[in-house]
Amino acid sequence: MGTPKIAPSVLAADFANLQRDIEIINQSQADWFHIDIMDGVFVPNISFGMPVVAAIQKHATKPLDVHLMITDPDRYIKNFVALGAQVITVHYEACTHLHRTLQLIKSHGIKAGIALNPHTNVELLQNVLTETDLVCLMSVNPGFGGQSFIENTYSKIKTLRQMATDQNTELLIEIDGGVSDKNATLLINAGANVLVAGSYIFGAQDPRATIENLKKRLRPKF
Ligand code: DX5
Ligand code: ZN
Repeated sequence: MGTPKIAPSVLAADFANLQRDIEIINQSQADWFHIDIMDGVFVPNISFGMPVVAAIQKHATKPLDVHLMITDPDRYIKNFVALGAQVITVHYEACTHLHRTLQLIKSHGIKAGIALNPHTNVELLQNVLTETDLVCLMSVNPGFGGQSFIENTYSKIKTLRQMATDQNTELLIEIDGGVSDKNATLLINAGANVLVAGSYIFGAQDPRATIENLKKRLRPKF
């Protein structure tokens, strides 16, 4: 399965020095930029919108992994594709016609992801798993960076990985919220293969070295 991916969350970057922080990630061993879009309705916070994503796109040299914490995300899929998204993840809880939304994302030739809030059972994805490239398991309640990790996530990862194996489908399992060196190895061993980290990376003295250490820790031993 290769080395797990690291996706630094731009939400924790210094917006007054956004270009500098993007360059740090460009120079690092990180794999993706994780971009959190919050609408103040689906989640109790507003992050940033299209002009900021356009600014990120201008400088980023790695894929943009866009996490839409918004209601009725179908309305904006096209916009985020135009802004260079290579993965678009929508919330299970925000989509009445999830299958249709996944098809819409994939019709643009990019990866389609589904995010689940901490209370949402992974079993609910049984009928859409083969249509899905990535499942993002929220390991905090979405809306804010810097919250503490919810331990129940490990059992959700294991169940989901088993479901993917049973359906013989390759699945990226992304963990979002409270990820650090304290839980990274356990998350990967449970079956995750993409780790989002915001405050752990951008709050560090040396974000680039922090990413390198995380990568080293997660690299397969043989
Ligand atoms: C939370 C966002 C996360 C957040 C993670 O709603 O989806 O991506 O930026 O931040 P940390 O790593 O600080 O928990
Ligand atoms: Zn996120």
